[in-house]
Amino acid sequence: MGRKISLTLLILFSIVFFVSFSTRHFMYDIPKVWNIKQLESMHLPYADTSIKLGFVTEEYYNQIADRISYKTYPFYMPGNEPEGYYEWLANIDPVVNFKEQDLKTDADWIKAGELIYELPMNFIPLDSAMLSLLPALAKRWQATGIHADKKGIIPFVVISIRKRGKPELGIESCGMCHTKQMPDGQLFKGAQGNFVADRFRNIMTTTNPNWQNASLENRLARFYDFNKSLYYTPWVNNEYQESYKKIKPEDLLTTHYDQLPGVQSRNNGSFDHPISIPDLYNLKERKYLDKTGHNLQRGIEDLMRYAILNQNMNMSSSYNGFIPDPVPADPADYKRGKFSDAQLYALAKFLYSLKSPKNPAKFPVKLLEKGKAIFIEQGCVSCHTPPLYTNNKLTPADGFEPPADHFKKYSIFNISIGTDPGLSLYTRRGSGYYKIPSLIGAWNRTAFLHDGHLANLEDLFDSSRFSPAYTPTYFKPIGVKQMAVPGHPFGMELTKDEKTALVAFIKSL
Ligand code: HEC
Ligand code: HEC
Repeated sequence: MGRKISLTLLILFSIVFFVSFSTRHFMYDIPKVWNIKQLESMHLPYADTSIKLGFVTEEYYNQIADRISYKTYPFYMPGNEPEGYYEWLANIDPVVNFKEQDLKTDADWIKAGELIYELPMNFIPLDSAMLSLLPALAKRWQATGIHADKKGIIPFVVISIRKRGKPELGIESCGMCHTKQMPDGQLFKGAQGNFVADRFRNIMTTTNPNWQNASLENRLARFYDFNKSLYYTPWVNNEYQESYKKIKPEDLLTTHYDQLPGVQSRNNGSFDHPISIPDLYNLKERKYLDKTGHNLQRGIEDLMRYAILNQNMNMSSSYNGFIPDPVPADPADYKRGKFSDAQLYALAKFLYSLKSPKNPAKFPVKLLEKGKAIFIEQGCVSCHTPPLYTNNKLTPADGFEPPADHFKKYSIFNISIGTDPGLSLYTRRGSGYYKIPSLIGAWNRTAFLHDGHLANLEDLFDSSRFSPAYTPTYFKPIGVKQMAVPGHPFGMELTKDEKTALVAFIKSL
């Protein structure tokens, strides 16, 4: 009898042990991402508070298929691939590489999150027609600054095998824009990315026979439609979000060739005013996401929401009634799919694990001490407060008066620093504010201020940029050679030596 009981107990114990072991990941409390109330409250209102932002319903969202992460393979600059590479690729089976049930420890989640960071969102079939176009593509890529690494690989895009015999070029992963290829070939994930994705996209589109066979009118109409979906902001009527209309048929082959590594015309922004790509270090500590602080980050779940919105559910949001890319009636027809909550959780954990690389350049201690003293004396610390070198607050854009209730709801440092208000007042990413960015890792950025007009930290403290006769050292909108780069009038009066010390100090952070 006693033996029977202990056997039952043993079996019971084993079952409990097995169940608890195999479901250990439930210890990870994966937040529910698509919650309309939370989506609404994570967005700051637009400067015009009468504008309503709406989201795809929870019921619809839940029915969209989850993206499946398959093992990917390197994409070589055409001509650099090993012999027989494409024949080999045509004969491998898809391998699913993100399996939620296998993730037990934090380290597992972070590692799996990296796969999601690299997971393409769009796919271009590498069929025989496309393979025969590759040499022409390679020429155009190289002519526009798209280079392979030492092994001949273009590290920002991949080859995906989602079906045996159907290799595809996988594009538009987080890593495509948020990874920086250093001159020595090192890849810094989470740095200000330096792939010229817009030029790449232009080349892919305009080399496609589908585009080449179309009439000029049709090409232009398609271009306008596409850009309207990305940028049109119905409650604002000015040049800022309709600048794509400046493009004429003869420009179509080279649109975005003026864009530079480190800036990106992100959806919901503007065609002709790209945004400088932020680095993603110390991300967990940031209270606001986007240069405009358009989104709150109250916890990991808001970062997860940010990721699925920006890749690409926000294209199906309603902007006061305008839906750039309406979802099909049947969720099964929503081909882009969505990240699962577990994928987003892993992705966010990966992003939180990223550490800012230290500047390999060393500066004399005396110079850094002097720079630090100037940084304090000039009041930089009131906004770029250590240890994050930001006080995590928002400053009103030029021309925006924060409503009284905002002082209770948000962290506001109520001084406008006077940079171009366009992104925050005239786009679907607007809020009326610009957030104070962290200066950690600034040594490795090449596009300063939210609109990336300045190439160097030194340029920020050069008062000649306030003149309309100034030639911006970095991004310039189409057809513009000279323009003022207004705002952020701090540290302008310093002597040359003091500026050198200040810049050295920033580069040491
Ligand atoms: C096509 C390029 C591109 C892709 C792809 C992309 N991003 Fe971004 N990302 C940007 C740009 C540009 C910004 C700046 C937007 C702004 O400030 O309004 C940005 C901003 C962000 C921010 C806000 C950081 C901050 O402090 O303001 C986060 C977080 C982020 N991206 C994460 C991701 C993740 C995660 C993915 C993949 C799911 C992704 N991004 C895909 C270009 C891209
Ligand atoms: C009143 C708050 C405030 C003060 C004071 C201030 N800044 Fe800033 N700083 C900002 C804001 C806001 C931005 C972002 C502006 C934009 O992107 O349009 C910024 C941007 C920067 C950037 C560019 C970061 C990037 O990646 O684009 C640097 C560098 C910088 N500040 C350094 C300084 C230094 C040095 C001082 C002191 C001489 C200083 N700031 C004083 C608010 C401030």
